[in-house]
Amino acid sequence: MSFRLKTILGIALIEAILLLALITMILDYLKSSNYDALSKRALTTATLFATTTKDGVLSYDLASLEAFVSEVLKNPDLKYARVLGPQGQLFASGGDEQALQRTFKQDLQVEQVSDGIYDTFANISEAGVNYGRVELGLDIAPILAIINEAQQRSAIIGLIEMALVALFSFILGSYLTGQLKELRRAAKGIARGDLNVNVPVKGRDEIADVAKAFNSMAKNLRIASDKRNQAERELQELNQSLEARVERRTAQLEARNKQLSAANAEIKAAQAQLLQSEKMASLGLLAAGVAHEINNPMSFVISNISTLERYQACYQWLLTHYRSLANEPDVEKRSALLEQINAKEQEFDMSFIEEDIDDLLKDTQEGSLRVKEIVKGLKEFSHVDQDNKQVLYDINQCIESTLKVVNSKLKYHCELKLDLQPVPKILIAVGEMNQVFLNILVNASQAVKEEGIIQVSSRLEDGQIVIEVKDNGEGIKPDVLTKIFDPFFTTKSVGKGSGLGLSISYGIVEEHGGTIKVSSALGVGSCFRIELPVSPPT
Ligand SMILES: Nc1ncnc2c1ncn2[C@@H]1O[C@H](COP(=O)(O)OP(=O)(O)O)[C@@H](O)[C@H]1O
Ligand SMILES: [Mg+2]
Repeated sequence: MSFRLKTILGIALIEAILLLALITMILDYLKSSNYDALSKRALTTATLFATTTKDGVLSYDLASLEAFVSEVLKNPDLKYARVLGPQGQLFASGGDEQALQRTFKQDLQVEQVSDGIYDTFANISEAGVNYGRVELGLDIAPILAIINEAQQRSAIIGLIEMALVALFSFILGSYLTGQLKELRRAAKGIARGDLNVNVPVKGRDEIADVAKAFNSMAKNLRIASDKRNQAERELQELNQSLEARVERRTAQLEARNKQLSAANAEIKAAQAQLLQSEKMASLGLLAAGVAHEINNPMSFVISNISTLERYQACYQWLLTHYRSLANEPDVEKRSALLEQINAKEQEFDMSFIEEDIDDLLKDTQEGSLRVKEIVKGLKEFSHVDQDNKQVLYDINQCIESTLKVVNSKLKYHCELKLDLQPVPKILIAVGEMNQVFLNILVNASQAVKEEGIIQVSSRLEDGQIVIEVKDNGEGIKPDVLTKIFDPFFTTKSVGKGSGLGLSISYGIVEEHGGTIKVSSALGVGSCFRIELPVSPPT
């Protein structure tokens, strides 16, 4: 149902209800006031007629009564009139025959009238005595005609009114819907994306306000949309330039990455070299001791060998002469040869040589074994790990092979106390771990003066392998204590220390998932404690 139709119907309905109520009220009022006037007039007329006819009734003057009746009937509204005696006997009557023939029945209200005549009466009395009565009938047709006409006019006015209302609401509805149609057209345009719509503003009413608001909304939308388009364009441009920049950056980063990995490889190589040179430096410090250690047995091995050479010459002489003796058939010659041999045996002191040979051989063997041990120790110590590969290894064996190398340096000025308890094998890079112990032991040997004691212990503690190297050396100053693991930190003179030992050791132990800690008291000694997990992180 269109808005216009709704407007028309709505207004018409309200108008009809109001009109109906108004007309009903007016007609009711018209009716009741007319009916009231009629009944009052009837009563007045009856009373007046009774007064007029009283003398005629009292004197029984029928002729005058007839005259009164025809006089009163001149009143055009009266249908009939009757004068009755005290016993109801008819004295005089006149008017409409039909009306007279009906039996009298008083009407108290006009509404009750059913035969078109309002019947009423009045008593003729004198000093309280009733002498008769008059009966009248009033025609109600004229009043009904008036009311009827009023009804008809009301209906006509109502219809005209309704028609006017319908016309007006049609015009109003058309105006309103015309504006609304404009709004709808514009709204549809906006929905389609056409923001250049403009609703014509007519008049200064609320609809015009809505149209204005709509236009300003459309304008704002247009501005917002323009801004958004602009932003989108900028974003797109930005995006494109960003992509290009990202590509450039990525290429730069890739190049940088390559450089970094190359640098990393270089650093790794340098690190390995550093490790190796620190190892070599430590070994250099030991070289003199090791050389001495080897020289000692070697020198007596060499002297023993020259003695044995001498002894061998004696045996050679004796062997040659015993062979001649055995082949000599002449008895005299044989005894002379025997004498000569005996004299030589005395000269050589063969009983001493026989004893000495045993000692010499034993000493030589021992010396050679000692050299062999040292060389074995060096070999074990300088274990080269293949690509830092870790193997299941007994840490005590590391300590022992390191000690074999260091001992040559230690044993002249300090006592070594060993307490190695059995520990489970763990995954370690053997060469690296050797270097850790070498560093710490060399540091300890450098810290102690005469009568130094170095205690090396290992044990299993709370599921960890704990190795402690304790010395009674000079100790470390508290302000130095925080720096000793820094690379290149040393308190030693050039040639004695590089300052790399502990920093390298720290790195190695950390790589094995362990920790290295130090406690020290100045003038009392230091203790380095290494803790290694039994199952290190993969
Ligand atoms: N057992 C120790 N007693 C006293 N000082 C020590 C001991 N171990 C290490 N230090 C101190 O830590 C410093 C750093 O040690 P390290 O890194 O091995 O380098 P370097 O031995 O070449 O000096 C040493 O110079 C020394 O001052
Ligand atoms: Mg050192």
